[in-house]
Amino acid sequence: MKINQNNVTEISSLKDHVGECVTVLGWIDGVRSHGKVGFLVLRDGTGLVQGVVLKEDNSREIWNLHESLTSECSVSLTGEVREEPRAPGGFEIGVVDLRLLGPSPDYPIQPKEHGVDFLLDHRHLWLRSSRQRAGLQVRHEVEQTIHDYFYERGFIRVDSPILTGAIGESAGSLFETDYFGQQAYLAQTGQLYVEAACPAFRKVYCFGPTFRAEKSKTRRHLTEFWMIEPEVAFADTEANMELQEDFVRCIVKRVLERCQDQLEILGRDPGDLQKVMEPFARISYTEAVDLLKKKGNAIEWGSDLGAPDEQQLTEEIGRPVFVYEYPRSVKAFYMKQNPDDENTVLCNDLLVPDYGEIIGGSQREDDLDLLLNRIKEENLPEEAYSWYLDLRRYGTFVHSGFGLGLERTVGWITGIRHIRELIPFPRMMNRLSP
Ligand code: 4AD
Ligand code: MG
Repeated sequence: MKINQNNVTEISSLKDHVGECVTVLGWIDGVRSHGKVGFLVLRDGTGLVQGVVLKEDNSREIWNLHESLTSECSVSLTGEVREEPRAPGGFEIGVVDLRLLGPSPDYPIQPKEHGVDFLLDHRHLWLRSSRQRAGLQVRHEVEQTIHDYFYERGFIRVDSPILTGAIGESAGSLFETDYFGQQAYLAQTGQLYVEAACPAFRKVYCFGPTFRAEKSKTRRHLTEFWMIEPEVAFADTEANMELQEDFVRCIVKRVLERCQDQLEILGRDPGDLQKVMEPFARISYTEAVDLLKKKGNAIEWGSDLGAPDEQQLTEEIGRPVFVYEYPRSVKAFYMKQNPDDENTVLCNDLLVPDYGEIIGGSQREDDLDLLLNRIKEENLPEEAYSWYLDLRRYGTFVHSGFGLGLERTVGWITGIRHIRELIPFPRMMNRLSP
């Protein structure tokens, strides 16, 4: 069918067309018929509208067509716009014309319980469901907030490469690939590159996909996830935590302002999120271990905090908490050694209730010799870091930065437990399709 674009209207702007005859194009969300009146709910990606088909006002052809419509048929619907507070979206259209654009026989996803594997196998269709739309809309709002936040504060966005020759985080979770005979990796982080851009622009950030060959099948791990990594010259670890706190608060505030409908669909209580407006808690790793021990946890100083430890800590504390100065041995090579305690580094994680770590950040080692020692200690190939070491050879400077995991952050904000639902097409250990 050729579409006459003249009076095609997006559902979100129907409020400006009450009393007018418009055409809307979209997909069938539901149909029901009561003898002489048919109701269909149409979704066009901007909203929902109810179409009302009266048997006596329409041709037999239109009535029959309406009765034959099934979930997710694409249709064109024309008629007068009326306010109807009881209809989803608040408007209805008195149908005078209805056309089938694309049939949808036996749509696989039905309004019943499906197993999550079935839904993930049908991710290309599952995206259309209301909870999935709500979660991804919040993701979109968070992404936009992130760009606005840094733009408004004079940060320059620096896109970091995805194919890299140097290990960014740790050797344990690398995707290796052959790069014309040379060994290459998919980037675990853009950090080393934003560090290089720091002397050029002072305040920078990258925002892109990052890759970890994580063999863990937890609800918090993807093999491909998106990370935002700011890096600031002349900022120490204190300034770094202040930036993180302000940043996270701005993100939550904006979601509370602009995504009320989505939070409601997801059953997320905005009151819980309001707690983010209070100052975040701060405790050192050593204090955290003491606290956990007091609560019966068997953790010993020196081991990393695992998901259950993080869970226990945030339950105790009840709001976002910075845990700072972890043991050097559990953290990456680039973190600055604590001048007051050579066994710890000037770093922090930000833990939030129900999700644990959403940010990892640190002041960077700016001393050439100490950094070289760490590279050797971790058995990293020194040659691959010669350019990174140049940053300490030519005008070394105090600098700090952090990485915020997008999917975990959106998971925490929306209350969706598993981060696989917060990226359009999740990549996990056992999933590469669709
Ligand atoms: O703590 P991470 O490994 O820190 C870095 O990559 C640093 N280079 C960041 C920096 O200082 N510029 O990762 C940062 C965040 C984590 O806190 C977590 O939110 C997220 O990235 N993350 C993951 N999200 C989903 N799936 C995974 N497998 C993740 N691994 C890390
Ligand atoms: Mg981390």
